Amino acid sequence: MKNNKFIEKTLELSDYIDINLVKKFIVFDEISSTNSKAKELARNGEDEGTIVIARMQKKGRGRFDRVWQSPDGGLYLSIILRPKLTPDKTTLLPLVGALAVSKTINLFGLCSKIKWPNDVRINRRKTAGILLESESEEKQVHYVVLGIGINLNIDINRFSKELRNVVTSLSYELNGNVDYQKFLKILLSTFDKYYAMFINRDFDTILKEWKMQSDTLGKRIKIVTSSDEIIGKAYDVDKSGFLIALTESGEYKKIMSGDCIYFDEL
Ligand code: BTN
Repeated sequence: MKNNKFIEKTLELSDYIDINLVKKFIVFDEISSTNSKAKELARNGEDEGTIVIARMQKKGRGRFDRVWQSPDGGLYLSIILRPKLTPDKTTLLPLVGALAVSKTINLFGLCSKIKWPNDVRINRRKTAGILLESESEEKQVHYVVLGIGINLNIDINRFSKELRNVVTSLSYELNGNVDYQKFLKILLSTFDKYYAMFINRDFDTILKEWKMQSDTLGKRIKIVTSSDEIIGKAYDVDKSGFLIALTESGEYKKIMSGDCIYFDEL
């Protein structure tokens, strides 16, 4: 799609979209990172529900400061949130984001699954990821920026050699492009539904649905954290979104963040 046409069409969508959470779209043709822009706006007081969207990113960021390759055809957005909850509750939000993304993808006839905490995959290949960044004080969240990157209509040959065997896109899986604006609209209304649950502290329902959408629990896993490697069985996920692993020595270990590797994929 021609660049300015992208901005025009996406902005047009915001005119008739009727989703509680969505207040404003800020659309770019090209940007360094929608998360960086959304954080800057949030620091300057931008409201909850402002969404930064870009056709492509030059410096897309993933978890653990990894590069998120962001060619055109992908969906790159960051939502500013200001939940009136204590900061410790926000750790569930990336799982809320992954749940909304996975549910949306499945409405397009695919079977995506979530790998803890928030990798959305189709046929075991990564298709989407969530990056949550926030600023808080002890008892108060100032803002949360929830960044979502989805390989929507991307020819997988556009990804680097190392990524080609481990990622996929919706267009590759469907053998044809997905309507960007339609996908975006469904994604935002699905996210709105789960975010409302989150604000109402209905963490049980979110977790129940996340577990149905995930293929992690029950699997033999290796979790690589910044300081540790844990091997065991994925036993449960708690209301904070933390993984509880049952280690080989019979110990239950709570893991807040890390890379999850399935042994049956090694
Ligand atoms: C991951 O590592 O899985 C998370 C990837 C998150 C990428 C998205 S794309 C939109 C937003 N802007 C960024 O720079 N990153 C997130």
